Amino acid sequence: MKSPVLRAKTNSVDDTRRLAACVAELARPGDLILLAGELGAGKTAFVQGFGAALGVPDRITSPTFTLAAHYEGRVPLHHLDVYRLEQLAEVLDTGIPELLDEGGVTLVEWGDAILPALPPDYLEIRLLFGLADDDRTLDLVPVGHRWTSRIRAIRTALAPWLEEGGVPC
Ligand SMILES: Nc1ncnc2c1ncn2[C@@H]1O[C@H](COP(=O)(O)OP(=O)(O)O)[C@@H](O)[C@H]1O
Ligand SMILES: [Mg+2]
Repeated sequence: MKSPVLRAKTNSVDDTRRLAACVAELARPGDLILLAGELGAGKTAFVQGFGAALGVPDRITSPTFTLAAHYEGRVPLHHLDVYRLEQLAEVLDTGIPELLDEGGVTLVEWGDAILPALPPDYLEIRLLFGLADDDRTLDLVPVGHRWTSRIRAIRTALAPWLEEGGVPC
């Protein structure tokens, strides 16, 4: 498991949404973001804040039964939840590389489970429960040049949430 480059803390669902909105400001067409973390960790909340910042007018929920949901925003948003997928083949059928080529931003809940099916350029965000009910830790791991080249910008954008001692870039 790769170590996090940045560690952020939020203390409410809206706080996580605000953080996600700041990440969205840095997103580019073709980007892939993997969201890892247990049920209730805040993966969908992250997508909600991210989508709002992209101007998605719809209420975003987990696309549990449809696997993928597509939203129109300033940049198209593809939201996948692969929790129920047992076969890698099913993921391949969803055509994630094709989605990335289409030019939208793709966010995949439980994306860490399908790493072998994904291109090697993504931002992984691991959400962890904190001590208090509404505390969450978000570990950000940029993988591949597409995201490592943006780490300075991410650090600046997320400064209000960062723990001291993050690895300087
Ligand atoms: N800091 C926080 N960040 C995100 N969600 C939080 C936070 N504190 C409490 N919550 C609650 O945790 C739940 C997260 O749910 P959800 O985003 O659907 O999780 P997941 O998609 O990871 O299963 C929501 O009920 C939300 O209100
Ligand atoms: Mg979810």
